[in-house]
Formats: sequence, C-alpha cells, structure tokens
Amino acid sequence: MQPDLQVIDDPAEAAAEVLAAASGHVVLTGGSTPRRAYERAAELKPDWSGVDVWFSDERCVPPDHEQSNFGTVSAALLDRVGGAVVHRMQGELGPHDGAAAYERELDGAGPEEFDLMLLGLGPDAHIASLFPGDDALGERERRVVGVEMAGMAPLVPRITLTLPVVNASRRIVFLITGTDKAEAVSRAFSGRPDPRAPGSLVEGDVRVLMDAAAGARL
Ligand code: 6PG
Repeated sequence: MQPDLQVIDDPAEAAAEVLAAASGHVVLTGGSTPRRAYERAAELKPDWSGVDVWFSDERCVPPDHEQSNFGTVSAALLDRVGGAVVHRMQGELGPHDGAAAYERELDGAGPEEFDLMLLGLGPDAHIASLFPGDDALGERERRVVGVEMAGMAPLVPRITLTLPVVNASRRIVFLITGTDKAEAVSRAFSGRPDPRAPGSLVEGDVRVLMDAAAGARL
C-alpha cells in the first residue's frame, strides 16, 4: 500500500486528533516534533483509560534527564492525563539490558501488533532509533534491540523497536515538520525502499502528516 501523504497547515493538530481517538496499544515516539501534538492530545482527551502507551525508542539516560523521550512525553502528555497504562523503556539500564527488559515487557503485556504507531523522521531519514547503516535496521528476529552508537545527536546509546514490529502495526502515522526534513521526506516517501533511508522501509497502513516545509521536495 502506498503511504497516504498529507501536506497540511497544522499537522500537529491532526496528529493530536489521531492520538485522542486512539485506543488499545499505542506507540509514541521521541524527538521534539511531537511535543505540541502531545500537549494538544492531552487537552482533547484527559482520560486515557483503555490505552496502553508504549515507546518506539529511548535514549540511554535516566527518565528525568532532559534527553529522555519518556521525560518529554511525560511532560507534554502523560503527566497531564489519567488512566493510561505506561510501558517505559528503561534507558538507564543501558542499550542491551534495556532492550532485553523491554522485550520481556512486550512479550508479557504487549500485543502481537500495535494498534497505532506514531513516528517521526530524522534528517537522515531514520525512524525510531533505526539509523542508516546500523545493524539494528537489519534485525528481523528480535522485537527490541540496543544501539550502541546513535547515528545522530544526541549521541547516546539507544533502545529501539525493530522494523518488523513497526511494520506489523495496524496503523502508522508519521508527524514531520520543517525544512530540514524535506530531503529526508523525499528519500523516504518518493523513492524506492532503500536501507540508506530507513523511513522508506516502513510498510502497511501509513499516513504521513507534514507541513509544507517538510513536503517541499516531494
Ligand atoms: C529520537 C526519536 C527519533 C525522532 C526523529 C525526529 O529519540 O530521537 O524517536 O526517531 O523521531 O529523530 O526527531 P525530531 O522530532 O527531534 O526532529
């Protein structure tokens, strides 16, 4: 299925609406782009009962560190709503123990397939912490792996869901904004699948919410 590419004025609002309507097992992503979407989702839906929140990836720092994805998502969303069951990646355990712990959590309390996965796209077209040229991108057996060397700042080790888990999601929504993503958007969504642009390897029911700046090279 081709991705549904949507260039819209306010992609964060559209992403917030998707999140507010979601139920079941929902994967949230890190980075700075989704912050406003998370804040709006908290306003639109204060009660997250019936939602299990998971993470696409995490930086190997403690949860109260400024680079923690859990910290960012908590401040913008999870601390503002009630009812959600939150499954945090434990970055403080390091990439390999943290990945093993999350795999156990996923095997014990997770679904076969996530209901909704929110993703961002890096300027190098990475998704989650699956960077071009890294072994983690080629992983097909494990559901969660550790990444010792991040391909981009912040240059801390990572924990990440693997591509088969991403692609097994029932729905995948990208939220992408800004001129610095335009080239990556073009490589991820208007070329052939190419491991040098991990976003191009995402398959399934994929909707891409982006602003005009991010979509400028399509
Ligand atoms: C992370 C991510 C990562 C992110 C992209 C976009 O931990 O950094 O989860 O995949 O989504 O790098 O990040 P920005 O929104 O900050 O550009």
